[in-house]
Amino acid sequence: MIDVASIKEIPLGKTKRIRLANGQAVLLCNVAGAIFAVDDQCTHEDASLYLGCLKGEEIHCSLHGGRFNVKTGAPTHEPAEIALKTYKVTIEQERILLEL
Ligand code: FES
Repeated sequence: MIDVASIKEIPLGKTKRIRLANGQAVLLCNVAGAIFAVDDQCTHEDASLYLGCLKGEEIHCSLHGGRFNVKTGAPTHEPAEIALKTYKVTIEQERILLEL
């Protein structure tokens, strides 16, 4: 597991983009106090989901309006059809740890 951020950095309903050592950008999402992590790149085309909007459990892509459930990675609205990769999150002493 790797330490990527403090939970204090992500207010309720907000997101934070972090970058892994391999260059992959990951979006951390605060849904009602629980943190979920998904790949930051939309699976429809090459758009950063960080530029979109988190509404409840859904991240809305800013480019074409595709949506994904950040808990499961599942696409929930067209044109998104392919699931996002999700990462297991553990919180320890207010630190966000990702399992890769
Ligand atoms: S790039 Fe995200 S919906 Fe098209």
